[in-house]
Amino acid sequence: LKVAGVPRRTIWRTDDGAAVEIIDQTQLPHAFVTRRLESVADVATAIATMQVRGAPLIGATAAYGVCLQVSEDASDAAIAAACERLQATRPTAVNLGWALESMRSALQSQPLAEREAVAWQRAAAICDEDVATCRAIGKHGAELLIDAWERKRRAGPVEVLTHCNAGWLATVDWGTALAPIYDAAERGVSIHVWVSETRPRNQGAALTAWELANAGIPHTVIVDNVAGHLLQRGGVDLCLTGSDRTTASGDVCNKIGTYLKALAARENGVPFYVALPHSTIDWSLDDGVASIPIEERDGAEVRFVAGRSPSGVQTEVAILPDASAVANYAFDVTPAHLVTALVTERGICEASRAGLASLYPENA
Ligand code: MRU
Repeated sequence: LKVAGVPRRTIWRTDDGAAVEIIDQTQLPHAFVTRRLESVADVATAIATMQVRGAPLIGATAAYGVCLQVSEDASDAAIAAACERLQATRPTAVNLGWALESMRSALQSQPLAEREAVAWQRAAAICDEDVATCRAIGKHGAELLIDAWERKRRAGPVEVLTHCNAGWLATVDWGTALAPIYDAAERGVSIHVWVSETRPRNQGAALTAWELANAGIPHTVIVDNVAGHLLQRGGVDLCLTGSDRTTASGDVCNKIGTYLKALAARENGVPFYVALPHSTIDWSLDDGVASIPIEERDGAEVRFVAGRSPSGVQTEVAILPDASAVANYAFDVTPAHLVTALVTERGICEASRAGLASLYPENA
């Protein structure tokens, strides 16, 4: 994606080769700030504090964390400790474990002296693969948007509802759920996106809205509770979200609030699509509700709302009584039967074991 006219990725190795640089997503939409990560500790902090977030980008960042470790100490013990530390940062997105496993298996058979070069090569390949994968998701998913536009005889834009941020910022480039929107818009399809704010971290309001504004895609931010009303009144042609972990049977775990949107979409006969790369599929799991670990984050994220004051100061304000307890579940599971179809880099399939097996026979 271009930022201020310049094509950029969300993570890159620095010119001196000693670090990686990220966009600090906690500063958006008010400031575009990049940060240099020089150690496994820096990477673990960036993931845990959500300076980087989004399933594919978490995986790519963790891969670079292993590189930074190997540049310092390439022993088996050091690699194992780094992987354990990185794996502990966020439990739900399976891309994290997938990327660490990919790094581990690339490194384990290498002699010590070769490991640094191999690690940086493998992490760069994970990033390049993510870009190609997201581009392919965009191409396949755009067909759904073109169909929807033709079905309404091009009378007005395709009305898309999305949740959280499954865009460029959640991946290395393009995004998952937003990639079809970027692709279809490039192909001349008129699109309007309903962006749900995504309390408590507001990834919709802060990140998706920023991305879409930057790309010139018409959009409107709504509070999370508006989605049911819009779906009921015919204001949405299709829903399109990402996934942090998809089971082999097609259950989808995504940002908290996704499930309620899928229920409201089903009740109102609106298709609900989920876009995801192969790295998000957990082939070891079948029943998402029973088995996907759901991250619970610090209650302070619910207690305080962060934003910018009218005088331009970044600040936090409390919005509930100090004595009240809070719960902060970060993800929920949408069962496969509520998902109209999955959009992957290999094409579109039914959200089911048979559907995924038709696209990924080698894993099924
Ligand atoms: O907590 P986050 O911001 O990391 O959650 C991100 C999401 O839920 C996205 O929808 C998901 O990672 C899919 S992104 C390509």
